[in-house]
This record gives sequence, structure tokens and C-alpha cells, in this order.
Amino acid sequence: MSVTILVGGQWGDEGKGKVIDLLADRVDMVVRSQGGSNAGHTVVAEGKEYKFHLIPSGVLNPSTVCVIGHGVVVNPKVFLEEVDNLHAEGVSTDNLFISERAHMVMPYHPELDRLGEVQRGDDRLGTTARGIGPAYEDKVRRIGFRIGDLQKPAFLEKKLRFVLRLKNEALTKLYDAEPFDEGAILDEYLGYAERLDPLIRDIYPMVRDAIAHDRKILLEGAQAIMLDIDLGTYPYVTSSAPTAAGACAGSGIAPSRVDKTIGVFKAYTTRVGYGPFPTELTDSLGERLREVGNEFGTTTGRARRVGWYDAAVARYAVETNGIDSIVLTKVDVLDEVPTLGICTGYMWRGEYWDHPMANISHLKHCDPVYEEMPGWMTSTRDCRSYDDLPPRCRAYIERLGELSGAPIDVVSIGPDRQHTVVRRDLL
Ligand code: IMP
Repeated sequence: MSVTILVGGQWGDEGKGKVIDLLADRVDMVVRSQGGSNAGHTVVAEGKEYKFHLIPSGVLNPSTVCVIGHGVVVNPKVFLEEVDNLHAEGVSTDNLFISERAHMVMPYHPELDRLGEVQRGDDRLGTTARGIGPAYEDKVRRIGFRIGDLQKPAFLEKKLRFVLRLKNEALTKLYDAEPFDEGAILDEYLGYAERLDPLIRDIYPMVRDAIAHDRKILLEGAQAIMLDIDLGTYPYVTSSAPTAAGACAGSGIAPSRVDKTIGVFKAYTTRVGYGPFPTELTDSLGERLREVGNEFGTTTGRARRVGWYDAAVARYAVETNGIDSIVLTKVDVLDEVPTLGICTGYMWRGEYWDHPMANISHLKHCDPVYEEMPGWMTSTRDCRSYDDLPPRCRAYIERLGELSGAPIDVVSIGPDRQHTVVRRDLL
């Protein structure tokens, strides 16, 4: 098994970071392939909590090569802060590299993100305000800055003059906001250049050689299918492709080289930001699950919206990503829920839909079709094997696997590495 992709199967925050951390010491290379510092993983290892936004959590294993692929938009300031925090904890970053082709989040991107949201008013998306959308916009518009540009100061300066004129025009004329200063940006980014220089690589030969030598590579996706720019609940999505296909594009690895795709799903559903969420629980049970599951964003601290497991979304995720194996997380959060709802599809104007509709207004107004199952009403935290789990918990897991269309091979029952029940090895 050489190339494995790991993706989120819902609206993000499924606990991918923990799974990557579990797998990292069994792979030679982890490549982050899309998104930016909008993502947030919290990993608990040996009682210590680590927060990651850009750096693959695989960095905790010193022998794993960690690569930020060209599909990622990198905010160098956030990246270097993360590096400094890791060093302060005694974690080495000697094996960490960034693709020369990865685009950078520039200082005007978060500001344009924020102002764009204000301009949308009631129709705002609820972005993380990290400048992700504006950075991808510039990439596609071919006025973005790549990490490799840091190694070409004269080019950087010339291009910044041109691009900043466009940006400042938008800021001052469209938004009545303050312009950015060219000299200040240049100084700031040339400062980053000095520190980033040793980490910048053309990752193509690295990845090619790793594949040629049959090294184990894990492609780490951020966000998830329902936030996909095409397949998600557009426009309430992120600006990249958090799918298995996106992982290939963002790392430069051909789909035919991929051996396995793992999907991470929470045992219920959460979503941050606005947009349709058919199984949302807006009652006291939703509030309780949010508290028990500590459903507050790692990146923004925002309260996450909480709802029942949506098997129609899960099936869609399994099929569009080609998921072979599911990791089901946060099962313990449901320990004290007497009756569990599972959405199997939707009714909209008398018609049954077995998948999330492309028309988000229909998705917003549909009625989820639910199956109910009895809860297990006992703690699962100390279970260490699948057979230790209460029978009703196992029945719930089995049913989710059946409805979602892929086997649930790993179950997570708490934040720590030891809170993990493996039914079948992932790699
Ligand atoms: P953006 O990616 O900051 O542009 O935000 C667009 C949408 O994606 C918003 O609804 C965000 O809350 C959501 N989003 C972005 N990154 C994540 C993530 O890592 N987890 C969950 N939601 C995210």
C-alpha cells in the first residue's frame, strides 16, 4: 500500500488530525494538499495538546517527511508561528518542506475576506476570515504570489507593485477601506523569505522518488466534501477541492497511483458557518451535544452547529471520493443520548432524494427522513476493542456503515491516541 488519501466526509472538523497523527508513524511522507490556515486540527499526544492549521500533524513523528503541497495557500506568518510553537515544545521541523508552487496568503487577503463578508450582509458565508477565498481567487486570476517568489526579491517587488495597485484600488474604491503599503509588505515577506528559504522545494522529484521507491505516502485533506467548491453546498463552501481528486491535484500524484481512500466521519454531524444543514438540531439536545463534544472551532472558536448523522451525505462522500474505509469519530459524545436519529434521505415536495441535492434551496427546505435507534447510555471511553463496546453502540456503528456504503474500520471514543478501537488496519 503506497499512496493513501484521507478526506473529511461531512462539513469538516471530523477529527482528521487525530487519524493522521495515528497513521503518521506508519508512513514515510505526509502531504497536505489543499486549504490553508482555515483548517484546524487539535491533536492530543501523550497528554499534550497540539493545534495545527497548516503543518501536517505528522510532524510529531520526527522520521516522517511532511510536505505542504502546491494546492495549499500558505500564510507565511501563521506557518512560522506554528513552527515556533512546535520548537518551543521540543518538536523538530527538520523534515518539513513547502512546495515552491504553493500560493501565499498576502496581508490584503484576510482584509478582503472580512470586507467581502460585510458586503454580503445577511447572505454572508461565515468564512474563517483567514483570506482563503481571496488567495485562491488571485491564484486563478494569475496574480497570486507563490512561495517560490520569495526566492526572487526583484520579481517579488515588481509584481507586488502591479498587484497591490489592483488591490488598493478595490480596497479604497469598493470598500472605502485603508490601502496597504508596498514597502511594509515587501519588508515583511522578505523577512519570511529568509526563514522559509531552507524549506522551499520543488516537490515533484521528492514525490516522484518516494513513489518510485514504494514509500508510504499519506495525502492529508483539510475541510470536507460538503465544503467542496463544486460538490458542496455552493456558495457556502470553501474555495478548494477537499476531495480525493483534489488531494491528487494538490500534491501532483496521479489518481492511478492511489491505493486507498479513507474517509473520516463524526458519529453525528457538525457544520461551522452558514448554509443548509438538513439534520441540524437547534434544540437543547443540540446544545448538549455541542457542550459534550466541545464543538467549538479550533481556528475561530465559533460554536459549531450540531445535528444527527446524515447517511445521505455520507454515501455521497463515499461515492464521490471513492472511500474504501471509514474512521468514525466522537462516538463517545453520544454515550448519554437515549434515542439516536440517522438521516437516510430527504423528502422535498413529495419526492424522495437519496443524496444531497445540488439545489441548495431545496436542501435547505427538505425534510430529512429518519431512522431511530436506541442509545447505549453508558460510557465507551474505556473500551479498547470493538467487542468491548456496548451492543447497542455496535449496532449503531454497523448501521451507519451499511447506510454509508463503506466499512467502519476504526472507531474513536475520545481525543487521545489510546481512545481508538481498530477493527481492521487502515494501512
Ligand atoms: P473559508 O474556507 O474560510 O473561506 O470558509 C468557507 C466555509 O468553510 C465557512 O463556512 C467555514 O466555516 C468553512 N470552513 C473552512 N475551513 C473549515 C474547517 O477546517 N472546518 C470546518 N469548516 C471550515
